[in-house]
This record gives sequence, C-alpha cells and structure tokens, in this order.
Amino acid sequence: MSVTKEIKRVTTNSLQEMKKRGERIAMLTAYDYSMAAIVDEAGMDIILVGDSASNVMAGHETTLPITLDQMIYHAQSVVRAAKRALVIVDLPFGSYQGNSKEALNSAIRIMKEAGAHGVKIEGGVEIGESVTRILTAGIPVMGHLGLTPQSIYKFGTYTVRAKEEAEAQKLRSDAIALQNLGCFGIVLEKIPAKLAKEVTDSISIPTIGIGAGKHCDGQVLVIHDMLGINKGFKPRFLRQYADLNNVMNSAFKNYIRDVKDKSFPNDTEQY
Ligand code: KIV
Repeated sequence: MSVTKEIKRVTTNSLQEMKKRGERIAMLTAYDYSMAAIVDEAGMDIILVGDSASNVMAGHETTLPITLDQMIYHAQSVVRAAKRALVIVDLPFGSYQGNSKEALNSAIRIMKEAGAHGVKIEGGVEIGESVTRILTAGIPVMGHLGLTPQSIYKFGTYTVRAKEEAEAQKLRSDAIALQNLGCFGIVLEKIPAKLAKEVTDSISIPTIGIGAGKHCDGQVLVIHDMLGINKGFKPRFLRQYADLNNVMNSAFKNYIRDVKDKSFPNDTEQY
C-alpha cells in the first residue's frame, strides 16, 4: 500500500486564524513553475502572482503593460507547482477599472483558467462595487492600499505614501471599507510603520506589509528583489536573502570558460 502524505492547503480561514494567534504570514511573489515549486516546498503561506511580473519577468518599466492573458499564463504555471500555499493573482491594470462586470469577468478568468485561489486588486472605496461583485461570485479578494503601482503616473513617484494626514485618513477608512466589503486581507505598500500598525490594529483581517514596517500581520517581497537578482535595487525596506546575481553571473562565466576551453563536456559527460 502506498502512503501519500496529505498536505494541508493554506486557506483564507487559516490566515484569519494566524492573525488571531499573532502568527506572522509569509508571502512571496512567483511567476513560474520551477520557482513556485521551491517557494511552496519551503513552506510559504501565500504565493502572489504579482503584476510585478511586468517588471521582473518582461522588463517593463511599470506594471501597466502586463495583460490579463499574460497574468493567467504566469498563474497557471504557479498553480501547477503550489501544493500548500494559497495562490493569489493580481488583477492587472485595465482588467477591472472599466466597470464591476469587467472586474468580475477578469476575476472569473483567473479562477477558471489558472485555477487560482483568489485575486488581489489595487484601490479603496472607488473599487468597492467591483470588490463586492467579485466576492458575490465566491472569489476571495485581497485589497492593496498605500503605494499602488498601477497608479504610478498619478503619484509621479515611488516614494512613501500617506505621510500627510489627509491621505492617511483616507487609507484608514479604505482599509475598514475593504474589510466590511468582505476582503480576506489587505496589502499595505510603502506607508509609515506607525500608520500600518494603526490600520493593522483597527481591522480583524490580516494586513501584509511591503515597506510598511514590523507591525503588519505578514510580509511580502518580490522574489527577484529578495534573491538579489535585480542588481542595484536596494530600497530601505528590502532585506536581501541571497546574492543570486553574482552566483549566476559566475556560473555563466564558468560555463562559457569550460565550453571555450573544451573542458565541457568531458568523457563522463557524454554517451
Ligand atoms: O505585484 C506585486 O508584486 C505586488 C507586491 C509588491 C505586493 O503587488
């Protein structure tokens, strides 16, 4: 008889329980099968198929160009790899802003064609109708407040958001609104730690911070940034856990050397 180890999937309910217990939630982006398999195997709670794929996978300057079809392609690969983690997929720019029906159709495509477990959407009360419509279809929704990169041309800069009281106040009320609509969690990006703590303490759903300090219920990073693949991207909030740019660069150089000097392949590396 073969014994298969049952792996318990992280759910939106388990995330809620983690917040109640004070257990931090670990979230990381991934965009392809091989990376997602390693991330999942390591025990990540949430894998985010972020629209940061537009930057780190496709080389665009912003997250705006990536399409819904491209997000679904990335998400399909990640879902195939994730046995334990909850897989959340960004609704890309232009796939939900038109109206709530468009938002729902986009979210349905992500769930149906990629097999994702939920979607993330940028914005506050302005997108309330879309959030409600997606939730009504039984699709878990994660909010995203603070620095919302899809609005970069409105902000004009990637600096810290909500330092002024008026913007901080809007963020506080947006967080409560998203909770009341039924979102299962909210990403807080690049806001003062004090504000992130206030928001985290004021709502019962988990907050996941990126550049939002230590009091959030969880943290998220872009995988290429934390692995040190993007040379030169070193914002204050980023902790780099590896220096893969150098590791890969020297591996590639060694390979080139071995091919050029005919030492690869050797007698044991051929048929
Ligand atoms: O697209 C992304 O990677 C994100 C994270 C930065 C939260 O939205």
